[in-house]
Amino acid sequence: MKVALFSSQNYEKPFFEDARTQHNTIEFHYFDESLNENTASLCQGFDAVCVFVNDSVNANVLTLLHSYGIKCIALRCAGYNNVDIAKAHALGIDVVRVPAYSPEAVAEHCIALMLTLSRKTHKAYNRVREDNFDLNGLLGFNLHNKTVGVVGCGKIGQALVRILNGFGANVLVFDPNVGEGPYTLVSFEMLLSQSDIISLHCPLNEDTHHMIDESAFEKMKNGVMLINTSRGALIDTQACIRALKSKKLGYLGLDVYEQESELFFKDRSEEIIQDDIFLRLVSFPNVLVTGHQGFFTKEALRQIATTTVKNLDTIFQNGSCENCVIA
Ligand code: NAI
Repeated sequence: MKVALFSSQNYEKPFFEDARTQHNTIEFHYFDESLNENTASLCQGFDAVCVFVNDSVNANVLTLLHSYGIKCIALRCAGYNNVDIAKAHALGIDVVRVPAYSPEAVAEHCIALMLTLSRKTHKAYNRVREDNFDLNGLLGFNLHNKTVGVVGCGKIGQALVRILNGFGANVLVFDPNVGEGPYTLVSFEMLLSQSDIISLHCPLNEDTHHMIDESAFEKMKNGVMLINTSRGALIDTQACIRALKSKKLGYLGLDVYEQESELFFKDRSEEIIQDDIFLRLVSFPNVLVTGHQGFFTKEALRQIATTTVKNLDTIFQNGSCENCVIA
């Protein structure tokens, strides 16, 4: 089976080649390009495509893939908001994904963002390298006894709750689909108004698009910390910038950004960045942005490659697979 793997990065190839040795009927061809309407023609002669978070698998792309005989889209990530699932099914193209790959990787990155913002270790690192041992401007706060609101308590949310309980934080959860646990279940409004730190862990869909907007910011405590390691468009970025300017938002940690597909996963240090909203965002001293690296641990990459290869093998042998995305 020939698989066209898009948005390929050097760091993931060894994991895919290693996973492939268990299923050597699968042959990967690695394309640096992301999949979109302009690059879909590269899929001619392949049986399946393998895509990541910023590949665009919309109805037009799917129509082209169908005409080339592509039978399966294998997402090497959990979220599938970038694939038109209904269209894929209408065309008889299976969509498979990696539902879990070390949720702890993302949860631990979330804690890294919280602690860096709170304890300003990024600033301390630079100061000490310049023999500046002044503590002014580095005053932090404890996570212990803080109220942390977790929006979406699936695999990653639960991993985060376990860590937060270890810190002695008071954990609030809003998730319409979970029951009792080592946290206090509250309404979305209650979570917004009570939390010192808010962390987003729900999928991006029509209901959750811009769930953190002007009116959500109004309900939050002054100086609140907001962390988003889920998907950029959960937050209305313009409203976020206004909240930073008014100091309603005291700290912002992002691993994802609404328009990240134009920026992330490439070295752009020699380019002139055209996205003025992004540039405004990173200009604030209390904003920390990482480029969608929450998943980026050895353990998670190994799991992504192994599950993706197994998904492809199963779907081509059995015609179905437990990791199929259902419309
Ligand atoms: P999951 O499917 O296990 O959990 C998502 C939870 O969100 C579910 O419990 C669901 O009931 C809840 N939910 C759905 N709609 C909601 C709403 N309107 N309000 C509150 N909760 C709602 O997903 P998992 O594995 O925990 O991943 C969460 C998200 O993290 C993914 O959708 C993906 O966007 C993102 N992600 C980010 C990564 C990164 O590298 N930064 C890596 C992997 C996932």
